[in-house]
Amino acid sequence: MRDHERQPLQLIILGLSGALNHDPSAALLIDGEVVAAAEEERFVRDKHARGQLPERAARYCLDEAGLEADQVEVVAFPYAPISLRSPGRWHYARRHWYAPDRALDALLNGNRRFRRNRGRILELGTRLGVDWQRTEFVPVEHHLAHASSAYHLSGFVDEGRSAIMGVDGKGEYATTFFGYGDAGRIVKLKEFYDPDSLSGVYGALTEYLGFDMLDGEYKVMGMAPYGNPDHLSLERLIRPRRGGFRVNTRYVNTVGVRRHKEDGVGYYFSNRLLRWLGPRRCADDADEPYVHYAAAMQRLFEERCLELMEHYLGDVLRESGRLAFAGGGALNVKLNQKILALDHVRELFVQPAAGDAGTALGAATFVAAERGERLSAMTHVYLGPGYSSDDCHRAVAARQEPLSVEVLDNVAESVAELLAAGYPVAWFQGRMEFGPRALGGRSILGCPSVPGIADRINTQIKFRERWRPFCPSVLDKVAPEIIGTDHPAPFMTITFDVAPSWRPRMPEVVHADGTARVQVVDRATSPRYYELLEALERRTGNAVVLNTSLNRRGEPMVCSPEDALEMFCGCDLQYLVLEDLLVSKQADKR
Ligand SMILES: [Fe+2]
Repeated sequence: MRDHERQPLQLIILGLSGALNHDPSAALLIDGEVVAAAEEERFVRDKHARGQLPERAARYCLDEAGLEADQVEVVAFPYAPISLRSPGRWHYARRHWYAPDRALDALLNGNRRFRRNRGRILELGTRLGVDWQRTEFVPVEHHLAHASSAYHLSGFVDEGRSAIMGVDGKGEYATTFFGYGDAGRIVKLKEFYDPDSLSGVYGALTEYLGFDMLDGEYKVMGMAPYGNPDHLSLERLIRPRRGGFRVNTRYVNTVGVRRHKEDGVGYYFSNRLLRWLGPRRCADDADEPYVHYAAAMQRLFEERCLELMEHYLGDVLRESGRLAFAGGGALNVKLNQKILALDHVRELFVQPAAGDAGTALGAATFVAAERGERLSAMTHVYLGPGYSSDDCHRAVAARQEPLSVEVLDNVAESVAELLAAGYPVAWFQGRMEFGPRALGGRSILGCPSVPGIADRINTQIKFRERWRPFCPSVLDKVAPEIIGTDHPAPFMTITFDVAPSWRPRMPEVVHADGTARVQVVDRATSPRYYELLEALERRTGNAVVLNTSLNRRGEPMVCSPEDALEMFCGCDLQYLVLEDLLVSKQADKR
């Protein structure tokens, strides 16, 4: 990079997220091109970087582009002041009658959080070197940022009207967004407001099932196929209403006195929920009755989302067949499979950074679009830092442990050989991914036809729950045969039914219900990863690799070679490929 130095008349927009106390991130757009984007957690090595601002991420983005902070035209921030005339504050106040302090605060002081956030971001900008005399601070409503991150980067902008959906826990007040995009403009059709939040309920059940909200939702989704959704209906948690829904805050998404508290920690569910469902789950197993609750929650979430989508977006979808989807709820890959299965949905674009980290990008794209920039489709997520083989050499040399290092002539062939021999391999190549999925930049790989490889990675390396599924990356030329469609799937945001003929060929990456969260790899965006899959196909007959993120349980994905080595030396992996280097703990192996 560094080809953007001091050129005049460029529109440089820095998006900064972190208003909601989790997942701060930064994204940089130059003339509508996404030049860099990264989550703060990767730099500070603290998952979700709660309570922090995206300082390191912003510095990285500017460095990547070779820019100084005083060249930034606009700082876009995905959190906006909400007028007292907005229905959001009144809805919140009405629905929190049982917590009058909250209700009154929404009405009398509804933008306190915005003001606090703005102050913190202005201070951060000053620390970065932003000149606030010439740089504009532009707040963007949280759900418009989510919507823009999906729609403006979907490739649908020139295609006529396209439906847009946003589902997350909560932005300022809105939790759920329905609208459409037309020639680059986003039109809001309907929003729902806190506490009526589908993702909020999912998050509360996630806490009840013993996981952290904002982190464990994947685990609930992964647990669901082991349960029977008919075991117990959770319908009472989210009652449908004409064109809407109402969350029962006597049970979930609740605050104040209604919250269940344990050891001074308050949860988003109530004691009433505990009396109904039994004690909170605390073990690591996918056990009864909790698997059934996970299944029921997943089904309820899917049903409510699909009903609302049909109600508000059915017409647009029947007209265009296109949906752009973001917000933490868009990471629900099972819901996305159901959406794509609908007759009137032909194209589904899910922003790969659909959670709040993606709102830094969305705020920036929203402002860019408003100012007439043309944004092209997002084709990859390799927007984070990259490192040379020299950087990697230096990082290895700095380690105390005895490590053998070999410079590989043909990385793809050598790694394919190790994978086919049954070894998991840590794979560090190119720029780090933006968003929660490892897509061949910072991955742990395994050969999915080797029996037990998933268990081995789970218990020896990732230290995560045994029942959690792993996912496959597959070559584009065989993907339609495996998943039965040529719909794009570059980001692991959708599950697909795996063809019965392929299930025995990749048993370690097919979930209990016969689905897999597939990444389809193309040569243009991931040339070395593509070569690896080709090499693996030559050895095993299957152009499929198990791909999981390069991190241990509870840690953010690896960013630098130093992080990769720290992780490598702290687990049972034997092989780590850093760019062209094969690092091994077995000095006598090769
Ligand atoms: Fe959000």
